[in-house]
Amino acid sequence: MKPITTLLDRDNTLEHAVLPEELARLYSGDLRFPSHDDRPYVIGNFVSTIDGVVSFEVPGKSGGGDISGLNEADRFIMGLLRAGADAAIVGSRTLREVAPGHLWLAEHIYPEARDHYARYRRQQLHKPGAPLNVIVSGSGAIDLKRAVFRTPGVHALILTSTSGRELLERNGVATLPSTEVRKMKTNDGRIAPASILKLLHDEFAVKLLLHEGGPALFGDFIAHGCVDELFLTVAPQIAGRDLKRQRPGAVAGVAFLPETAPWLNIVSVKQSGDHLYLRYNFAEPSKRSR
Ligand SMILES: NC(=O)c1ccc[n+]([C@@H]2O[C@H](COP(=O)([O-])OP(=O)(O)OC[C@H]3O[C@@H](n4cnc5c(N)ncnc54)[C@H](OP(=O)(O)O)[C@@H]3O)[C@@H](O)[C@H]2O)c1
Repeated sequence: MKPITTLLDRDNTLEHAVLPEELARLYSGDLRFPSHDDRPYVIGNFVSTIDGVVSFEVPGKSGGGDISGLNEADRFIMGLLRAGADAAIVGSRTLREVAPGHLWLAEHIYPEARDHYARYRRQQLHKPGAPLNVIVSGSGAIDLKRAVFRTPGVHALILTSTSGRELLERNGVATLPSTEVRKMKTNDGRIAPASILKLLHDEFAVKLLLHEGGPALFGDFIAHGCVDELFLTVAPQIAGRDLKRQRPGAVAGVAFLPETAPWLNIVSVKQSGDHLYLRYNFAEPSKRSR
């Protein structure tokens, strides 16, 4: 891959570099994350069209790859974020839309950097094993034949309701050695994001959580103030929307008002070809330029 170009980088703290040389060269800079004492630090990752669409919502063509055009630098950054994360979390619909063999591992999305990711994870971050793959589903209506539930070395965790767990048990989840189910308290079928973060922190030692969507689950996390950063790739295409077909942006299921809408700070702007890679944080925006 041709190295990404950094157009702006405000994360210029003079701490020692975290990324190994080759990953820093390709990313054109270093990558560090703060941490919280009592919950995971949460980073979101989405790719959107210029007009804010993250899914065409067309059968077989609804994934992020259709939005990014399978952009190589986007896949490299996704891999980099996965390589550093203790866990990756997705909602049940995102699981349904990816290929049945999909695993939330760095090398799965960008195999070309497999060895570099592995060295970064093991030698630099001292993280043993693969990131925990977390699936959230109130209903428990999940296809357990998918690779994420059956791959040795990949620990999958399904967070669901009481009835969801019963359904998963009827569907044979107990026979899957690498898959664990946790029953969570729900309200209208929804698990509170804060309780997800508490569980992941207290029982699974998750310090850095990568949120890969989709918009419904991400919207819930945003609405509850449970996201610290957003890595947003802007792909140079326009998807449009019509009245019949809803095409979501990165956040769905919550509508803020001008008085309540969260504002973000830009941390870095990177570019490869006509794609842009934006990194934002939610830490108390100081100046709101309108
Ligand atoms: N461009 C991108 O970067 C990107 C990233 C991710 C996804 N996508 C696309 O976005 C589309 C999926 O969007 P989506 O918003 O419908 O999917 P989603 O958030 O992945 O999944 C929604 C489902 O997740 C479960 N869920 C979400 N929040 C929950 C909560 N708080 N508690 C319990 N369960 C919860 C529910 O499952 P149950 O119905 O089972 O209860 C809900 O129906 C797909 O086309 C996908 O490819 C695009």
